[in-house]
Amino acid sequence: MSERVREPKKASSSPLRSGRNNAPPEIPPRSPGAPQLLRGMKDILPTDLPWWDFLRRQTDAEAAAFGFSRIETAVLEPTALFQRPLGEGTDVVQKEMYTFSDRGGDSVTLRPEFTAGVMRAYLEHGLIAWPQPVKLFTSGPLFRYDRPQAGRYRQFWQLNFETIGDAHPVVDAELLMLCEHFFRACGLTVSLQVNSIGDAQCRPAYHKALVEHLKPHRAQLCEDCQQRLQKNPLRVLDCKQALCRQLTQDAPQLVDHLCEDCRQHFTRVLEYLEEVQVPYALNPRLVRGFDYYTRTTFEVWPSDDESGSQSALGGGGRYDGLSEALGGRPTPAAGFALGIERIVHLLKERQIAMPPVPGPDVFLAQLGDAARKRALKLFRELRDAGVRVTGAFSKEGIKPQLEVANRLKAPFALIIGQKELLDDTVMFRDMESGIQEVVDAAKVVAEVKKRLGRTAAISPPPQPVSASTP
Ligand code: HAM
Repeated sequence: MSERVREPKKASSSPLRSGRNNAPPEIPPRSPGAPQLLRGMKDILPTDLPWWDFLRRQTDAEAAAFGFSRIETAVLEPTALFQRPLGEGTDVVQKEMYTFSDRGGDSVTLRPEFTAGVMRAYLEHGLIAWPQPVKLFTSGPLFRYDRPQAGRYRQFWQLNFETIGDAHPVVDAELLMLCEHFFRACGLTVSLQVNSIGDAQCRPAYHKALVEHLKPHRAQLCEDCQQRLQKNPLRVLDCKQALCRQLTQDAPQLVDHLCEDCRQHFTRVLEYLEEVQVPYALNPRLVRGFDYYTRTTFEVWPSDDESGSQSALGGGGRYDGLSEALGGRPTPAAGFALGIERIVHLLKERQIAMPPVPGPDVFLAQLGDAARKRALKLFRELRDAGVRVTGAFSKEGIKPQLEVANRLKAPFALIIGQKELLDDTVMFRDMESGIQEVVDAAKVVAEVKKRLGRTAAISPPPQPVSASTP
């Protein structure tokens, strides 16, 4: 047997596990007119997924620590869910929603954000009867027909946390704490920008003061802001145009116009943050892009970005009026969402190494179809024993199979050739030293486990609960 198995060339390691950037393979030409990715959409390839999986693990850890349960909501929703509640004058509703009539003639929209859908699910499934607050997290793709550019896609993913049914300011502080801890655990330094935009009591008076201040400069404002001045004056504060920013420099600030309840709420949020030493920056211009926000608003910016213009990593705030806007009872709520693509980009830019993905313990190689059948059977036995096993069952020669084993960095290979088949044995190969030994087929699972030093088998598959089980 050993003569038949020649030492394979050490193959270059997988970019997946080494993080090394091998030259990309040449892409074969395709016929003209072949379907391709739509503009602004993005495939996530296996080479990128270690970063996504890392963020998913961090999210699960934060969710467990802060007591959030996972929810998955529909990707397609009635257009009315977003149109009024998000704000008819907002960019998302006016210009960016993927809205179309379905085959039944109903107007439907691919979700542009999670919050409205999560609140709909809370109301529709009676989560109001659960102990309050209900803390929910979710993640998935969202759709906005925006102008594609760096960090801005038409399909993008968010990690999203919502706390529904609690008006206490500590809820806002807890969300900010979670957010800050998430980034710290990812190895990223960020800046938390915090503001309060008041509520239906105090905002109208502030609108008036702001409009009064800006009216004399109306003609100098950008076209969008001239419209905003009529429909949603707060958004003028958020404009990125240099002249608009200059004109709003001395504008009255919302924090100075908060009613007593909103002022107290905001003061307490900040007190809690100070108590737990979560650093934040007060940002009186931070107004956010949806109409449902009340009181606390916040965004997460990379620590080296002063403007936050195109690169906010996340944002959120309180939205105490959304439930009523959706026909529910008054239900206070707050939450935030983080943009996965932007965080992945920052992790790469700051060269934060991902934990390596564990490779296989054992690689199975076979020579001929009868051996292939034996190898497949052994594969199942090893899997059931909790061994991380893999193979390349469609390959014919031993050499190409051992090349795959090398590439996957498997410490051992089990080889079944013609002789092993006849003798009812398996060739045990140490991939590092190349030393090979013959092992009795009946003892191979125990031998693998002994060499891996792993005694615990994977837990048995879950069983149906019998009717008599208490
Ligand atoms: P948002 O500010 O629209 O808030 O989005 C949150 C984050 O999603 C942004 O800060 C950004 O990182 C990412 N994001 C938004 N649009 C794009 C895009 N076109 N391409 C790539 N990333 C993008 C919301 O969606 C609110 N629902 C957050 C919330 C939850 N408020 C309360 N609860």
